Amino acid sequence: MAHPPLSTLFKVVALLNDGTIHTGTDIAKALGLSRTAIWKVVQRLKKYSIDISTQHQGYQLKSSLLLLDKKRIEDLIKDPNVMVEVVESLPSTNDYLRDKSSFRNLHFCLAEHQSKGRGRLGREWSSPFGRNIYCSFTYSFNRNIDEISGLSLIIGLFVVKALESLYPELHPRLKWPNDIYVNNKKMGGILIDIMAEAHGHCRAVIGIGLNINMKEETLENVEHSWTSLEHELTLKGDRNVIVAHIIRSILNGLEIFLDQGMTPFLPDWAQYDVLAGKRVSVNTAAKITTGIARGIDSHGYLLLELSSGEIKKFSCGDASLLKE
Ligand code: BTN
Repeated sequence: MAHPPLSTLFKVVALLNDGTIHTGTDIAKALGLSRTAIWKVVQRLKKYSIDISTQHQGYQLKSSLLLLDKKRIEDLIKDPNVMVEVVESLPSTNDYLRDKSSFRNLHFCLAEHQSKGRGRLGREWSSPFGRNIYCSFTYSFNRNIDEISGLSLIIGLFVVKALESLYPELHPRLKWPNDIYVNNKKMGGILIDIMAEAHGHCRAVIGIGLNINMKEETLENVEHSWTSLEHELTLKGDRNVIVAHIIRSILNGLEIFLDQGMTPFLPDWAQYDVLAGKRVSVNTAAKITTGIARGIDSHGYLLLELSSGEIKKFSCGDASLLKE
C-alpha cells in the first residue's frame, strides 16, 4: 500500500503533540487533507505502537512525540556539504543507501522506523518507531578497502565523543570492534557495508544504531544486555540534537582519518576501551580464543595476549568479557 507523503504523518503528530483531543475533521481541515487520509495516518501510528486514543470526539496522543526534523538537524550542522534525509520507515537505512549508487557523498539518511534493521554478523537490529537513532550515510574513499580497515572503529569513537560532549555523566565506552557500551551494556553499534570500486576506490555505507528513548519493556525482549540513554539517565534525549552532534563529530574526525589513518586516534580509543586489560573470549567463524585484551593496533585489529604470552591479532569477530 502506498503511504501518503512523509510530511503528513509528521504534521499530524505536530498537531496532536499538544495532548488535547482533535477531531478528524479539524485535523483534515488544518492540513488540507481528507478525513480518510488522517484516519490512515492514525492507523499507521497505531501500527508503530504509538499510544493514541480514538474516541468519538477525536484523536489524542497519550504522550508527545518529538520526531526527527530534517531542517533542525541541518540548521544545527551548518555544513552545505551534508544532505539530510528523514524517512518515516525503511527496511534498513544501510540497504537503502547501498542499493542506490547515485547518492552523493555525505548523504545522511535517518529513519523513524526500520522493518528489517540489520546488526553485525547477520543479526537483527530492533528498530521501533520514533525512539532511537537509525542513521546511515554514504562516503566514497579513494583508498583500497584494506587501507580503511579501522573505519568502523573510528566511527564508534566519533559517536562516543559526541555522546560524551552532550551527556558527560553517561560515560559511554567502546567495545571492539564497534559496539557503544554504557555500564557494561550495549547502547549502540556501527554497521559498515563497503563496496570495492575500480582503481583503488571504494564506497562505504556507514550505519549507526543508537538506543535513545527505548523503553525498558522493549529492552527486555532483546537477547543481550542492552541499555538506552533514557534508561541510563532517566531523561528523554532530543534525537535531532544528538544526531547533529554525531554528524559534526564524524565530519571533523573523518578528515583526519583520511589524512593520517588510525594512528592519531589510538590514544583516544584506548581511553574508551572496555576490554583493555580484561579477560575476554574472541569468537570468530573458525574458533573461540581466550586471553587478555591488549587494545588495538593501527589497522583496528584487536590484540589478544594468550596464556603463552604470544599476542594474537584479530581483524574481525565477536568479543565477550569473561568473569574474572
Ligand atoms: C551492531 O550489530 O552492533 C550494528 C548495528 C547497526 C544498526 C544500524 S541502524 C542504522 C543502520 N541500518 C541498519 O539496518 N543497520 C544500521
